[in-house]
Amino acid sequence: MAGKILIIGACGQIGTELTLKLRDLYGNDQVVASDIREGNEELMSSGPFELANATDAAKIEALIDTYNISEVYLMAAMLSATAEKAPMKAWNLNMDSLFHILNFAKDKKIEKVFWPSSIAVFGPTTPKNDTPQTTIMEPSTVYGISKQTGERWCEYYHDKYGVDVRSIRYPGIISYKTLPGGGTTDYAIEIFHEALKNKEYTSFLAEDAGLPMMYMDDAIKATVDIMAAASEKIKVRSSYNLSALSFTPKILAEAIQKEIPEFKIAYQPDFRQKIADSWPSSINDSEARKDWNWKHEFDLQNLVKEMLTGVSGQLKNSK
Ligand code: SER
Repeated sequence: MAGKILIIGACGQIGTELTLKLRDLYGNDQVVASDIREGNEELMSSGPFELANATDAAKIEALIDTYNISEVYLMAAMLSATAEKAPMKAWNLNMDSLFHILNFAKDKKIEKVFWPSSIAVFGPTTPKNDTPQTTIMEPSTVYGISKQTGERWCEYYHDKYGVDVRSIRYPGIISYKTLPGGGTTDYAIEIFHEALKNKEYTSFLAEDAGLPMMYMDDAIKATVDIMAAASEKIKVRSSYNLSALSFTPKILAEAIQKEIPEFKIAYQPDFRQKIADSWPSSINDSEARKDWNWKHEFDLQNLVKEMLTGVSGQLKNSK
């Protein structure tokens, strides 16, 4: 790598673990974390950190210059449920931050960009099961519209200006180290905290709301792998479908009950159910598997065991 890595949105759910993984792989000083707020102790103490707003082009440019940055991972975004409550704010954050980075890459200030897309790019008219890479996309959420638009621009900047931008459509990402903020798939994280604390959970999605999901370690592996792959292997320059698991709240609850038999679940769907209804239940990711050799590792029961161990460790430490 010619220069260093900059992670924007490094203190979020995915950004935190991605930063730590990249520091492990490439050296602590090689990976500059930045976010609008400070992150957890491990992130803050393991390498350089800079406070920065992802929409502040001048500040981001100064970081690129100061640290001799050649790769940017743009992880800052407003997620689906929060974006419905603040549409223009979400649009501005999600789009402005992307344009700044794409333009820096176009001007050859940086060499490579990772930008995450999401299953939210699909909509109610998309085939729901085994959703193909290329299909009908009429997203009905602000977040989905911003990610779909972003994908078009990524492909455009690659085709017109030769920008090396790489992207995957993350499913719901399940993890315990840093909480997610404002997603529709967040029930699948809350459920573990409540199962351990109270032995019961009321889901804001209906029992049969099937959604594509993935354990964090797999999401990080996919991110590292797509960025490490030779450029000619990356044939899709909008964003790759990526899949591991697919489950409903009921199936997840049953998997938790195998470990905690007394756990009980109830259902009280709210506005997020409509968002879930508009998204696929399962994703066909054969192109990612073929082009850059993507493979997931965690199945449902492994994910449940890892989450219960991880969350109960945290609960003990916080006592
Ligand atoms: N997990 C995200 C959300 O629910 C989907 O990309 O908003």
